[in-house]
Amino acid sequence: MTATLLDGTAVARTIREELAGQIRDLSSRLKRPPGLTVVIVGENPASQVYVRMKHRACQEIGVASEVITLPAETSETELLATVARLNADPCVDGILVQLPLPRQISEPRIIEAIDPSKDVDCFHPVNVGLMAVGQPRFLPCTPAGVVELLRRTGHTTQGKRVTVVGRSNIVGRPLAIMLGHRGPMADATVTVCHTKTPDLAAACRQAEILIAAAGVPRCVTAEMVAPGAVVVDVGVNRVDDPASERGYRLAGDVDFDAVKEVASAITPVPGGVGPMTIAMLLTNACKAATLH
Ligand code: GUN
Repeated sequence: MTATLLDGTAVARTIREELAGQIRDLSSRLKRPPGLTVVIVGENPASQVYVRMKHRACQEIGVASEVITLPAETSETELLATVARLNADPCVDGILVQLPLPRQISEPRIIEAIDPSKDVDCFHPVNVGLMAVGQPRFLPCTPAGVVELLRRTGHTTQGKRVTVVGRSNIVGRPLAIMLGHRGPMADATVTVCHTKTPDLAAACRQAEILIAAAGVPRCVTAEMVAPGAVVVDVGVNRVDDPASERGYRLAGDVDFDAVKEVASAITPVPGGVGPMTIAMLLTNACKAATLH
C-alpha cells in the first residue's frame, strides 16, 4: 500500500485565498492593513528561514509585515523595551517573537510581556489558559494547522485514538489539549508520548492518527505505525548531507519512505504542516486586527 499525501501546500493556498477577501474588508474598515511585527534575535539559520517565509506570506496577502532584527547580544531589557513599544503601537495588531531566543534572554519573561490581544502565536499563558478551558482567543499556529489539515482532507478525529509524540509548549502539549476537547475536530482519545515513555512503539502502534512532533529525525519508523493509520509529521530537522549544495537536507520525524507503505495517509516534509502553520499565523493576524 502507498499512502495518500496530505498536501499542506495546496490546503494552505486555499486558506490564504479565503483570507484574502477578509483582509481586504478589514483593511477598508481599519483604513490600514492588518499589521504583524516579527522580532528575530540573533542569526539562527532555521529561524531566519521561518521569519522570511512568514514575512513573504504576509506581503503576498496584504498584511503589513515588519521584521525587526536584533543582534545576538541583545539583552532581555532591550528586548522587553522593543515588546513594550510594539504593545503600545496601534498599527501593530500582532507581535511574534521568533523562538528560540539567545541564552541570556528568558523566553517565558518575553512571552508574558507581549500584550495577550496581540499574541498571534498563542504562547502567552493567558491565551494558553483560554484555549485549555475551551474559550480560545487565538489557537496556536502549528497545532491549529495540524487540525485544519486533517479536517480539510476529510480526516475527523472524533472518537479516534490519537497519539502525539512530543510534549513541547509549541506543538505537542497544546495539540493534545485541543484534540481532547469536545467537537467534531476533537473528541479524540489522546496519548501523549515523551522521552520517558517506556514503550514508544506500542503507544504509536495503537494510534489511528499518529502525530510526530518530537524534533528527532526519523524517530517514527514503519514498525511503529499501524496499517492504515494517518500520519502527520510536524518535524523539520536539518540533517547533514554532503551531497546537497547547502550541506544539509530537511528530514521529518517520520521515516517517510518506509512509513508511506504502511499508513493510509501521510504528510510530506517539506510541504505538509509547515505551510499550514503560516496559514494559521495569517488567520491569527486577522483575528488580532479585530480585537482592538
Ligand atoms: N520557533 C519554532 N516555531 C515557532 C513558532 O511557531 N513561533 C515562534 N514565535 N517561534 C517558533
